[in-house]
Formats: sequence, C-alpha cells, structure tokens
Amino acid sequence: MKKHVFNAGPCLLPQEVYDKAIEAIKDFKGTGVSVLSISHRTKEWEETMNECRALWRELLHIPDTHEIVFLGGGASLQFLYVAMNLLEKKAVYLETGVWAKKALKEAKGFGEAYAIASSADKNYSYIPKGYEIPADADYFHITTNNTIYGTEIKEDYDSPVPLVADMSSDIMSRPVDVSKYALIYGGAQKNVGPAGVIFAIIRKDALGKVSRYLPTMIDYRTHIDKESMFNTPPVFSIFVMNETLKWIKAQGGVEALHKMNQAKADLLYGEIDRNKIFVGTAAKEDRSIMNVCFVMAPGFEDLQDEFMAFAKERGMVGIKGHRSVGGFRASIYNACSLEDVQALVDCMQEFEKLHA
Ligand SMILES: Cc1ncc(COP(=O)(O)O)c(C=O)c1O
Repeated sequence: MKKHVFNAGPCLLPQEVYDKAIEAIKDFKGTGVSVLSISHRTKEWEETMNECRALWRELLHIPDTHEIVFLGGGASLQFLYVAMNLLEKKAVYLETGVWAKKALKEAKGFGEAYAIASSADKNYSYIPKGYEIPADADYFHITTNNTIYGTEIKEDYDSPVPLVADMSSDIMSRPVDVSKYALIYGGAQKNVGPAGVIFAIIRKDALGKVSRYLPTMIDYRTHIDKESMFNTPPVFSIFVMNETLKWIKAQGGVEALHKMNQAKADLLYGEIDRNKIFVGTAAKEDRSIMNVCFVMAPGFEDLQDEFMAFAKERGMVGIKGHRSVGGFRASIYNACSLEDVQALVDCMQEFEKLHA
C-alpha cells in the first residue's frame, strides 16, 4: 500500500532525491568512490559545495550583502550561535512556541534577553500582534513557522533593529525578502534536505559587533571565510540538500512551490472547516501552510484513537499531533504532494460518513 508521509521532520523528500542519494552512495560523480567516503578536499566535492551555495542564492534571491554557511549541530545549536554572535547588551524575542522559548533561553546566558510578546496564554495558537520592538535592542528574534502549533508568520516584518529568524520549518516554502533579515537560520530536515546540516544566511555587516571572545567554531566569520569547510562538513547531508535544491529549481523554484503549498493547505484546511468531526487549533489568520494541526470536534473526542487507526490502515504516516497540542498534525512540506493531501482528505470524509 502506498504510504502518505506527513512526518514533521525529518520528513518526506522527493523520490528523485532518494534515487540520487542511492547512486552517489555507490559512486560519487563517477569517481569510483562513495559520497560517504569522498574527501571534502577533492575538486568534485568543492564543485558540489559551490553548486549548493549558488542554488541557495538563486532560489532565495540572496543579495551580495549576505553569505550562506552550512554547519552541523542542529538548529538548536544555532540558538546559541545567534546570541553569542549578535547579543552585546539586549535582545528581544517573539515567543510563539517551544522553539522560540528554547532560543530565548540560550540568549539569556549572554545578556539581557526577554520576550516582547507571547501567545503562551492560548497555547501558542496565534501570532502576537501590536507590540513595540525596542529601538535599543541588538536584534529581534522570530520563529517564522511554529512546527508544533501550526502557526506561521507569512510576511517579512519591518523591524527597527536587526531581524533574526528561525526558518527551520518554512524555508523555501514561500518567497522571502532576504534583505530584510540580518540572519536566517534553520535545520535542513524539513524542506531542504535530511537531518545533519543547518543553513545560516548572514548579513555580513551584522557580525563583529560583540565584545566577547568568540570560540573559533562559534564565530560565523570562521565559516564564511572558509566557505563552510573550516572543519569536515556534513558531506552526505549537504549532498542530499544540493539534490533537494535542484529538485526545487526543477519545480519552478520557490515561487511555484509556494502556489502548490498554498493549494495543499487550502485543500486540507477546507476539509477541516467543513467536516463535522474535526476542528483546527490555530487561529485562522495565522494558519501555517506547512504544519496543519487539528483535533476532534466537541462531542467526537472519544473517536480520536479510532481515527488514528483508521488513517493508519489507509497508509497515513506521522499524523499524530505533538503531545503539547494533542490530536493530529499533518506536515505538508514541499515534497508532500497534492495527492498525499487528497488521500488524507478522503480518509477524513470516509470517517465522517461512518460517524456523523
Ligand atoms: C522551528 C524549529 N526550530 C528549531 C528546531 C530544532 O531543530 P534541531 O532538531 O535541528 O535542533 C525545530 C525542530 O523541529 C523547529 O521546528
């Protein structure tokens, strides 16, 4: 039976990317050496690194003011990098969920850092609005897509201070005006590749402004200067990321994928709103086009386990909601197709016919 994979991350990647990875594990670019064993100092590898950087630039229209680096350690380690590289006196955060809170916690170790607004009062089901960003902050940190709660900041904010964004779970799902950000970072394992590598897009003039000692590996300038090869890069993860970017380009780029992502989200939210058995958890105006969260409607709560089993029998994978929200979460990242979403919608309709 065909599986429809809605995992939150690591998640589904395009079949073409899996195929390229298998080929390269056997023989990387005709070298007779596996990509798992290739030296990162070879010409063939350097070409892949350069291609990957160039694709990032092309797909996101990254201006010359910004550099892109690829590192290990997960997005969670970036929480610390951000604060150490940019926080001199004071930083402000928008607290829109667990990841934003974790990012803030790291910053507190390096200066004054606090949330200027939070949606914790309603279990992070909306994006706070109407707050003021202090003009004396070193930066303002946002999490554009809240993977656990299914809310998303879908515009590029105007900020009076350098804007920093964790875009782990919506990077390359929609066009972004990179020039508005001092730093954009995230783990690759949603829209741009497998786990094991992070991307950081950094405005060069935002660096070098803190007085603390920066350990070599923590200093973004080290990785910019050495083109992400100061130490051994996560070779295989970068290879797969490069193949994923080539796939994005072949789909018509980020702009074309955005249209597709919007169509998938409209289809699924449309069904959630129509179906008597389910109800969405995120505020409608802030609904994420990447992570769609829903629970059983009042009166149908007892059917939750039954729907989970029903969906599993029909090939749905990874739709269990995060424990802090409960219910269901379908992650419909770039590689998830309209057919996958339609299969879930069909399943919800079939279940409704049986029970409502
Ligand atoms: C928005 C966001 N930020 C950060 C993280 C943490 O990423 P990592 O597991 O790579 O540290 C996640 C993981 O799901 C996430 O969704």
